[in-house]
Amino acid sequence: MSALVVVETQHSPLGLRPLSAARRLGARAVFVTRDLGRYVHDGSPLLALPDLADEVIEADTTDPSVIVGLLRPGDGVCTVTDYSLEVVAEAARLAGLPGLDPAAARAARNKLATREACARAGVPVPRFARVLTVGQAREAAAAIGYPCVAKPPTDAGSIGVALCRDPGDLEQAAAELLAVATDYRGQPRPAGILVEEYLVGPEVSVESVIAAGQRSVLGVTDKKLGPHPHFAELGQDFPSLLPPAAQRACAEVAAAALDAIGHDFGAAHVEVKLTAAGPRLVEINARPAGALITTLIEKSTGIDLVLQVTRLHLGQRADLTVTRHRGAASRHLAAPADGVVRAIHGLDLARLVPGTCEVAVHVSPGDQVRAPRNNADTLGHVVTVGETAGAAARSADTAIGQLSVEVAC
Ligand SMILES: Nc1ncnc2c1ncn2[C@@H]1O[C@H](COP(=O)(O)OP(=O)(O)O)[C@@H](O)[C@H]1O
Ligand SMILES: [Mg+2]
Repeated sequence: MSALVVVETQHSPLGLRPLSAARRLGARAVFVTRDLGRYVHDGSPLLALPDLADEVIEADTTDPSVIVGLLRPGDGVCTVTDYSLEVVAEAARLAGLPGLDPAAARAARNKLATREACARAGVPVPRFARVLTVGQAREAAAAIGYPCVAKPPTDAGSIGVALCRDPGDLEQAAAELLAVATDYRGQPRPAGILVEEYLVGPEVSVESVIAAGQRSVLGVTDKKLGPHPHFAELGQDFPSLLPPAAQRACAEVAAAALDAIGHDFGAAHVEVKLTAAGPRLVEINARPAGALITTLIEKSTGIDLVLQVTRLHLGQRADLTVTRHRGAASRHLAAPADGVVRAIHGLDLARLVPGTCEVAVHVSPGDQVRAPRNNADTLGHVVTVGETAGAAARSADTAIGQLSVEVAC
């Protein structure tokens, strides 16, 4: 029996999907982590890993040769977390198993490398600079103009990404980012941070899969963001409500960006802003879309993206046949302020909203929460379906509107 070795994962519903996909495909589901404690909180698993994995192994997941040691011919190796994309690509290459070109994984993971490869290839990207000091950040921002965006080079989930309206904001954001030498996972990160032109316009992500040199676009997702100066993602609609020509233009930029970095295997989730001057690349994620987007794709098109990508990892063909045409949407619950949860209201009401198929809240009274700085600060979600994405979005806005988190500051 072949095995699917899943290296680390996301703390989201997507995190468990590769394991259940492996089982559905008749493979052993093996989960490898450097620290199982990362997936446990107050003694209970954050994710149902023990239920879904046939084997859980603690090993150094930053070392490709350690991962290779767990693989046999016919196995697959994958991840859905950005932080392990490079190690998985390298391990797959070393073991002779299907996977992404390691150079493409490196270019996707490092936002500076993505920007440089795309700029060289003529893909429209924001003006950008890599800076090593607060002084350099100030100089770069003066040339780029305000507002600008400061961000770490290899994090995810909008962690550390900040809108800077003036030199004061920028100095504070740059000093905070430059003071930390590791990413969210505690892995060393390349020196320096990025300062970028602030792109104004609706944000989308383009969801695609490439296999045997053939890239298929599954669709475009509309994103909703939380309040500035942060960029927490608080909602998604699939398929996008943008006019078809605008969606095509975004998909073209995404494909050009993927070509520029040599993306040659599996799913890609490419974020794009549709500015007045046309689509501009935000970033490339060389994996299936996170949050609940794969759920929305499935509800909307019938395609189980993770299952199909798992097939590719196991050396099988993916089936991307659309079996239904509906819309789906998700909205994420966020705290109104930093503090301690006093009460959560409206779960029953949210479930009554027509079209609602999931309502979940992950916090309880007494938990410390904060107003959303990044995606990890969201506290729950709703998922809705409708005849169209517009109908699903209306339901999702109505459903999330029923939920409130009362916080004692
Ligand atoms: N140059 C930019 N202009 C406007 N918004 C940006 C820019 N860079 C990042 N953002 C916002 O911040 C979010 C997170 O940034 P991103 O580069 O995608 O990093 P992450 O890996 O954390 O997702 C984006 O989805 C977008 O909303
Ligand atoms: Mg992103």
